[in-house]
Amino acid sequence: MSTVIETRDLCKTYIVNKQSNNVLQNVNFSVEEGEFVSVMGPSGSGKSTLLHTVSGMDNVTAGSVFFDGEEISAMKEKQLLNLRLIKMGFVFQQMYMMKKLSIIDNIILPGFQAKIRPREEIRKDAEELMRKLGIIDEADREITEVSGGQLQRACLCRALINHPKVIFADEPTGALNSKASNEVMERLLDANRMGTTILMVTHSEKVASISDRMIYLVDGNIQGELILGKKKEGDDLSIRERQVRNWLGEMGW
Ligand SMILES: Nc1ncnc2c1ncn2[C@@H]1O[C@H](COP(=O)(O)OP(=O)(O)O)[C@@H](O)[C@H]1O
Ligand SMILES: [Mg+2]
Repeated sequence: MSTVIETRDLCKTYIVNKQSNNVLQNVNFSVEEGEFVSVMGPSGSGKSTLLHTVSGMDNVTAGSVFFDGEEISAMKEKQLLNLRLIKMGFVFQQMYMMKKLSIIDNIILPGFQAKIRPREEIRKDAEELMRKLGIIDEADREITEVSGGQLQRACLCRALINHPKVIFADEPTGALNSKASNEVMERLLDANRMGTTILMVTHSEKVASISDRMIYLVDGNIQGELILGKKKEGDDLSIRERQVRNWLGEMGW
């Protein structure tokens, strides 16, 4: 296995009204290729900031971030943009779909932007992904014409369109009901089983229980880690969920 994300003494400080807020403090952590890691912690503990800094969406104040062997914390914006487009996929609670584009055109867009494959191939890929995720019938709909769960699955298709190494998911089920949430969880697991590494922030014990490993963040420090191991098909999720809940109890959740 090779390491795909690594931070060395990662620090992030925001300065607002001349007050500095040390959001991440000497965070050292890594993610191996193929892993599914989830991040939990109280609101404001720095989970989103961690995702933003390790994916190069935000710069670091001190320390370094390595992604797939390259130091992204030292990269120029243009190089970083390209790397993000090709090697990373993003799924957010807020979804951020383009209102003027149909569902399939939203999915295809980062494929076109990457300019590495012919357009017909990208479209075929998008259709294949939509079929797998059960939303092919929604391809030509507007984003306001589908359910929240369908839209989030479309976001997952969009995140997968360039066959990224890593998917960063920030509370991907945060705005969904439990049925839609279960569907998104299953599709994230499928993506991971096909080899995509996943780093996901969640508030849900159930959602976290599908990951292989969890970290718990408090005030920008990693307080603990729980190794769950890969969830196999047919594994009882409620047992894993209980394990997560007990551990979170120990962490003071
Ligand atoms: N862009 C920003 N500018 C200033 N402060 C920020 C910014 N983003 C986050 N913060 C602050 O950093 C802290 C951690 O935020 P965040 O990473 O969003 O936490 P979490 O995702 O765990 O809820 C909070 O105190 C938040 O107000
Ligand atoms: Mg957050």
